[in-house]
Amino acid sequence: MSVLIGYATEHGSTRSVAERIAGHLDAPGRHVELLPFDRVPAAAVHEALVIGSAVHQGAWLPDAVRFVRDHHTVLAARPVWMFSVGMTAALRGPARRLASRSEQPKIEALRRQLSPRDYHCFSGVIRPEHLDRTGRIVFRLLGCRYGDFRDWSEVDAWAARIAQDLPAASADSDRPAKRPAGEHGSDTTP
Ligand SMILES: Cc1cc2nc3c(=O)[nH]c(=O)nc-3n(C[C@H](O)[C@H](O)[C@H](O)COP(=O)(O)O)c2cc1C
Repeated sequence: MSVLIGYATEHGSTRSVAERIAGHLDAPGRHVELLPFDRVPAAAVHEALVIGSAVHQGAWLPDAVRFVRDHHTVLAARPVWMFSVGMTAALRGPARRLASRSEQPKIEALRRQLSPRDYHCFSGVIRPEHLDRTGRIVFRLLGCRYGDFRDWSEVDAWAARIAQDLPAASADSDRPAKRPAGEHGSDTTP
């Protein structure tokens, strides 16, 4: 069984989360491919996909959005897990409570489009040098803290659930009824 873990990152923390997930999915008889979206030659060869992106300005990074757009036929036919890496944990007080309860509209739209088996938003890393001057001012005004907010036990728990669900999920996706008509290895819509 072949599983793609595709990701888009700007400063590396989403890659590190993707790598951690890959470590959990690696198993005998399973080929796990970990790739940034701009290096995925074809999505259709994979029987399951775990896809994730850093969040910038409330949206996935352009490579990730492009991947979803270009491969939507494959994504509709395969079991998909979806994750985001943002900065919820960098917020404080009510802003943090609000952010952890609600999803950004653009990401929510992707989620509705993809109907993933599961979706999770992790917190990543935010440093002053990642932001321009205006961004640093807004960041401070919002009462955010800089730091590394990756919670590896949260990543491990999520990845372990995927590892458990993968065999059943891939058996489901083998049923012909789940494949859209006309898909024979091409992973783009004409
Ligand atoms: C310019 C910029 C904009 C960001 N906008 C958001 C945002 O809208 N929502 C959010 O949750 N996190 C936001 N973040 C935080 C990043 O998603 C977080 O730092 C994440 O770990 C970045 O992942 P990366 O290291 O893979 O690039 C932003 C970070 C930067 C640098």
